[in-house]
Amino acid sequence: MTDRFVRQWQANAEAFAHLIDGRGTPHHREILNPCIEELMGNVRDRRILDAGCGEGYLSRFYAKKGGEVVGVDFSPNLIEFSKETSEEVPIEFRVGNLCDLTEFDAEEFDIVLCNLVLLNLECLEASLQEFHRVLRPNGFLVFSVVHPAFNVYGPGRWELGDRGSRSKRRVGKFFRMDNYFEEKEYKVRWKTRSGQGFPQEFSFFHRAISTYVTLLLQTGFQIAAFKEPRPTSNNPFFDREHRIPFFLVIKAEKT
Ligand SMILES: C[S@@+](CC[C@H](N)C(=O)[O-])C[C@H]1O[C@@H](n2cnc3c(N)ncnc32)[C@H](O)[C@@H]1O
Repeated sequence: MTDRFVRQWQANAEAFAHLIDGRGTPHHREILNPCIEELMGNVRDRRILDAGCGEGYLSRFYAKKGGEVVGVDFSPNLIEFSKETSEEVPIEFRVGNLCDLTEFDAEEFDIVLCNLVLLNLECLEASLQEFHRVLRPNGFLVFSVVHPAFNVYGPGRWELGDRGSRSKRRVGKFFRMDNYFEEKEYKVRWKTRSGQGFPQEFSFFHRAISTYVTLLLQTGFQIAAFKEPRPTSNNPFFDREHRIPFFLVIKAEKT
């Protein structure tokens, strides 16, 4: 079953790495990453699992801050890319599936970082159980998803107007959401920076916020932080994200 998803990421790996460009998109840099950094805290000498590391830019970022980082991703192309672009920092990159992390020992990590990956996973419950198992007691998980209540990779849509004169982006008139409780797979074809379609569609799994929270609690996590980060600047490009949150970020501790 996972093979279908691996094929999507393999086919899109080059386009994805190009989009991320070693530092994340403007949305990541302006909204998400400062929030993640705050929740990660001081990572010096902490053993960190970057779960679904993609092309590895967050692994590099936290390794440069003194963390001992292991990056895992099921796309061999993305792991290869991560290795090639991370030679100046010691990071262990491995091909692996977040649905089954048995190659790692119990209580091996201080922190699991899972940035924008859970909404790609069909095996959400199994992966949370695996994160809990590999964390030491009092260790923590930080994860982000596209905000489930305003999920443009799920049932949500912006109704758009003309391009704004200042932002050059189409004005968001209002956000439309329906069938929030219908948890199912959606397929989306991303665009490159130059506006071309990625080679293949990606699969996303929409879940209600209560599903994430319930599964975390059932797995034995305690919720330590629940964030809807806002843009860190007044850049008019992010007018929509000042009005409607784009990301949801949760820090959960292993009790
Ligand atoms: C949206 S990307 C995020 C990558 C990275 N965390 C970042 O912030 O740039 C999702 C990543 O999850 C990986 N992925 C999806 N399902 C996975 C699974 N079952 N096991 C391991 N990696 C998976 C994909 O290959 C992709 O690199």
